[in-house]
Amino acid sequence: SAAEKGGHDYFMLKEIEEQPEALSNTLRGHFADGGVVLDEQRISEQDLRDINKVFVVACGTAYHSGLLAKYAIEHWCRIPVEVELASEFRYRDPVLGRDTLVVAISQSGETADTLEAVRHARTQHARVLAISNTNGSQIPRESDAVLYTHAGPEIGVAATKTFLAQIAANYLVGLALAQARGTKYTDELEHEFAELAAMPDAVRSVLETVPQVRELATRMCDAKAVLFLGRHVGYPVALEGALKLKELAYMHAEGFAAGELKHGPIALIEDGLPVVVQMPSLKGHSQLHAKLLSNIREIQARGARTIVIAEEGDEAVRPFADELIEIPAVPTLLQPLVSTVPLQVLAAEIARHRGYDVDKPRNLAKSVTVE
Ligand code: G6P
Repeated sequence: SAAEKGGHDYFMLKEIEEQPEALSNTLRGHFADGGVVLDEQRISEQDLRDINKVFVVACGTAYHSGLLAKYAIEHWCRIPVEVELASEFRYRDPVLGRDTLVVAISQSGETADTLEAVRHARTQHARVLAISNTNGSQIPRESDAVLYTHAGPEIGVAATKTFLAQIAANYLVGLALAQARGTKYTDELEHEFAELAAMPDAVRSVLETVPQVRELATRMCDAKAVLFLGRHVGYPVALEGALKLKELAYMHAEGFAAGELKHGPIALIEDGLPVVVQMPSLKGHSQLHAKLLSNIREIQARGARTIVIAEEGDEAVRPFADELIEIPAVPTLLQPLVSTVPLQVLAAEIARHRGYDVDKPRNLAKSVTVE
């Protein structure tokens, strides 16, 4: 019924609007007495200190959250991190051992590819930490440590609130590791946590763009294809924006690292092609901001229709944005928590206008339990 869907035509929009709560519920209880608290922890302090390599394994949207984990964990912990599609991981015989931490991210906790990656890691004596939204599911049960996201049940097949919760959980894991290894101390952790804790409000404020994005969607329904560009943490966001559009609207969509544009994708630009660009934080990443500006100028000159997601107050980008979606300025690593939201709405609304079932896209399952 409409009431169950929070007054919306479909669950996904309700779940998009629940993201501030999904985030605050995930953060709540995972930080106490100046430190990060996991839900289950069977890895000794000494073993945690000895970790010298991290692999993140996941599928689909969870994989995109994993790509973001790399930026945070390498920055905070100074440990090399590789992010790998769970379905590729075990078949290439990765180098694993007691000093390797494998972080397995799975909303359902039942995805077969991710579960098999976990099993393989354990046979090689790696330590496994699971991030899941489902209490007592198989992946957490077979792991050495667990952090549960508390996004609540997600009905829409395409992940939304669980994605934001996974990003927060990844960052909590990064902080827990930094703490165990002594690269971050209590006051620094408290500072990082306070920044995370402010994100539910930032997401609430980005939800104010929903009417603008819904209107934009009505004008994008007939596009042949849509490209998404971003750099640094904006790159996984571009991949996620494209995946959402494929899943829901059955449109050809690709996400690219903006720096790669000149190495190929720019050949795709033609008159009227919508290109969604995620601008880096102005203060946090001024160098990358300048590079993206020149990318936008280039694609606009070649006829692309630019849809730009930029921080409030980013005046420099205005002349190059055919459509400007403003998001609050937040610390660089946290930007995906706000910049993903308009892309979720865009995909859902384009799908709705094209007459598709937003909550149940064709050929897809919420949890895929076969390899
Ligand atoms: C399916 C869903 C995706 C999801 C992926 C991983 O393919 O359609 O939305 O991202 O599985 O799911 P998991 O439960 O492991 O996070």
